[in-house]
Amino acid sequence: MSQDAKESTATAAPATDDGNGDALENLLHENRKFAPSAEFAANAIVDAGDYADAAQDRPAFWANQARTLLSWSKDFDQALDWSNPPFAKWFTGGEVNAAYNALDRHVENGLGDRVAIHFEGEPGDSRSYTYAELTEEVKKAANAFEALGVTKGDRVAVYLPMIPEAVITLLACARIGAVHSVVFGGFSADALRSRIDDAEAKLVVTADGTYRRGKPSPLKPAVDEALAKEGHTVENVVVVKRNGEPVNWVEGRDKWWADTVDTAPAEHTAVGHDSEHPLFILYTSGTTGKPKGILHTTGGYLTQTAYTHKAVFDLHPETDVFWCTADVGWITGHSYVAYAPLVNGATQVMYEGTPDSPHQGRWWEIVEKYKVSILYTAPTAIRTFMKWGKDIPAKYDLSSIRVLGSVGEPINPEAWMWYRDVIGANGGTKDNPAPIVDTWWQTETGAQMIAPLPGVTATKPGSAQVPLPGIAVDVVDELGESVPDGHGGYLVVREPWPSMLRGIWGDPERFKDTYWSRFEAMYFAGDGAKKDEDGDIWLLGRVDDVMNVSGHRLSTTEIESALVSHPSVAEAAVVGAADETTGQAVVAFVILRGDAVNNGEATVQELRNHVGKEIGPIAKPKHVLVVPELPKTRSGKIMRRLLKDVAEGREVGDATTLSDPTIMQQIAESLRK
Ligand code: PRX
Repeated sequence: MSQDAKESTATAAPATDDGNGDALENLLHENRKFAPSAEFAANAIVDAGDYADAAQDRPAFWANQARTLLSWSKDFDQALDWSNPPFAKWFTGGEVNAAYNALDRHVENGLGDRVAIHFEGEPGDSRSYTYAELTEEVKKAANAFEALGVTKGDRVAVYLPMIPEAVITLLACARIGAVHSVVFGGFSADALRSRIDDAEAKLVVTADGTYRRGKPSPLKPAVDEALAKEGHTVENVVVVKRNGEPVNWVEGRDKWWADTVDTAPAEHTAVGHDSEHPLFILYTSGTTGKPKGILHTTGGYLTQTAYTHKAVFDLHPETDVFWCTADVGWITGHSYVAYAPLVNGATQVMYEGTPDSPHQGRWWEIVEKYKVSILYTAPTAIRTFMKWGKDIPAKYDLSSIRVLGSVGEPINPEAWMWYRDVIGANGGTKDNPAPIVDTWWQTETGAQMIAPLPGVTATKPGSAQVPLPGIAVDVVDELGESVPDGHGGYLVVREPWPSMLRGIWGDPERFKDTYWSRFEAMYFAGDGAKKDEDGDIWLLGRVDDVMNVSGHRLSTTEIESALVSHPSVAEAAVVGAADETTGQAVVAFVILRGDAVNNGEATVQELRNHVGKEIGPIAKPKHVLVVPELPKTRSGKIMRRLLKDVAEGREVGDATTLSDPTIMQQIAESLRK
């Protein structure tokens, strides 16, 4: 390998006392650095000039990106209106249509025959859509939704698998100015209903189901269950036929996609929407029991997603094949599947299923088949592949890969190096392994915020490193003072950015309280971070009651509420315990009610299933431990830190502030039984 591994220092104090010990240990010893190859740097689409431009005049930099990357039906007057913080307005007075930018204009520019989406179904079926074809599908869907009475500003709930109809639905909504609210297919009927109610959705778009590990997996029954109780706002349910399984049908309400969209007229004129027109709501877990409806608007969101997609992945749309493995139910699937790749006129791969179906080489087979050149995935997937062994990817030709992305959770240096050597260097056969871009961002930030630029930055295994051009990220101490290099603290954003959330749906106060009250005039991200001696940023995980399981955000409080809603449970405490593959795993400690019978494993299964029903399979605790008591301070606060020690098999830390110091002993004894 021709890369130079230069020395750098990465020393810092721990930012938080929340059990990131192991990750931090690794970081403290990490000193490798990989500069871009001369060839990569020479051909890079973005160079260091963007940092300089943005530093000179941040809003002007973004205004320039907005005009370069998007076609506005009406130009904007002002880049940023920050007269009423924290409510930002970007590109005021401008009008833009997201679907026109993602589709029609490419066709008008002679790119109609370029493939927009190569879809690969789990059972092995595949279809490709050119930009011309995808444009036509979206126009039909827009006409169909309008015919069902959906108009500008109405909310549409989307409960779909990873199939092209998901992208088509999102863009059709955007086209007519309807606000989509995607609910991940792994959420339960109850979770779907509460999101439908919160957003007052008029239409639901779903499918009969999908495939999971070779078997049909249903979706429609959850929609039926969600809508079974009266009092909702849904008028119609459009159903895509995907797996052909029999479904329950509500006459008058349910409509097949084939009968409504496929038969709709293929002509539809896109009109510009105000730059600040709501584009979508996406619910995410916070520190309280109730998920927050994160609101994103149009012009700023499209600008920053398109810019970062181009700059961070070094996108050459004429030749690259981009594959983001995220589900459209998460923000990554919104920004880097449904919007940015299409706005940038790229060709992308979309895969429906699991990485091990029908065999553990499925992803690499897909990379080889479509000659994927940019792969964007999560550390949890990389660690799973590591476990399966490098012999599996070695069977495939991965030489097309030239940029690798990571997102969703901190990537440990071992996984980073494996990703580079096994995937990015095609098992060591390539002289210049693909650069890895570790991208930090959130549902709330809408687009990437911290990431190396692959043609500019010398990358470090495990660090997201540098704020992107035009992004003012900092690490501050308890008082909001910027920490010096070599120190840890809290991650904040000091200046508004184009794709920032505009609020929490229906709850402006909660928006202020959650993000803007911890530090004066700064956005508080909820993450701990440190700056190394070079000033590069290392993310250290959440500092609040939010867990990160396989890159998915879950709230401890939400799972605790689900557990105590079970008739047998008196009290529950949930912690995210370090897990080799999923980053964190949900571990629940429960106290059963006096009259409840503990049936051992059967009780544990019942409680896990109960959480699955209340929130969704993704939230099921990995372990449920029935304990006689929970450790509490004298003021009644549960000391999750001590439970985390137990869950991670560590010696229990300082327990002197417990109201009853013998409790940890009692817990340990009950678990030994
Ligand atoms: O803790 C950070 C972690 O994921 C959180 C955001 O989760 P979500 O809104 O679901 O969005 C995930 C996909 C953008 C953050 O607060 N996170 C995300 N990316 C990284 C990360 N932690 C470390 N490194 C990252 N690259």
